[in-house]
Amino acid sequence: MTGPGCHIVVVEDGAALAEAAAERLIERVEANPGRIAICMTGGSSPKRLYELLATEPYRSEIPWDRVHWFIGDDRFVPTGDPLNNMSMARAAFLDSCAPLANVHPIKTDAANPDTAAALYARELQSFYGADRLDRTKPLFDLVLLGVGPDGHVASLFPGYPAIAVTDRWVVGVPEAHVTPFVPRVSLTLPALASCREMLFLMSGTDKRPILTRVLSGEDLPANRATSDGETVWLCDRPALPDGYRG
Ligand code: 6PG
Repeated sequence: MTGPGCHIVVVEDGAALAEAAAERLIERVEANPGRIAICMTGGSSPKRLYELLATEPYRSEIPWDRVHWFIGDDRFVPTGDPLNNMSMARAAFLDSCAPLANVHPIKTDAANPDTAAALYARELQSFYGADRLDRTKPLFDLVLLGVGPDGHVASLFPGYPAIAVTDRWVVGVPEAHVTPFVPRVSLTLPALASCREMLFLMSGTDKRPILTRVLSGEDLPANRATSDGETVWLCDRPALPDGYRG
């Protein structure tokens, strides 16, 4: 959580956090007159934000025909499964707001996670227009991330091989370190870093233990994940460690 372009924004509670995240998303959308790419996160932390995007005034402020929605990781379970991250996002707002062609799920019906990863890497590279990331041309306008109780981001778990992969954009993750214990498919750190803004969503007292470890500078995936652009930790007061002065 250190380094240039990395800062913490503190808000009162979960409702304020969802609103602040929606406003940052709109700012990023308004800053790009062309085709926009947003990389969503799964888990429970973004749900309130996703639901908010389907409501006014945010819904009218988003040029849905120009925004493309990708996912930073998914559980290798069928579409429609309650554990499927993209299905959660579709139910929360995409199905009612976004053109289907602008929604880019990970193909979790592929033969195995590695195949799904290779397919998604190809889809990202075709969207990007190259197979090598260029620091001057971010893949995403905005990357949303949650942090797990062990400090994982996307499905990049501490001490697992995927956290160290730098020669691929997407990897299969055969085993999860935390629940749900299902195989995953995850973007790698270099692909996640290729963005104008990386926005961490940290809400509630449950996040306090891991946020305390992150703030202490522990070597965790959450501390290795930074943007080539701006890295913002959006935290509500309940998530912050006692005595946090900021
Ligand atoms: C997933 C997520 C994962 C999530 C963290 C935090 O597939 O589970 O992408 O990285 O962001 O586990 O999850 P919560 O937001 O539910 O605490």
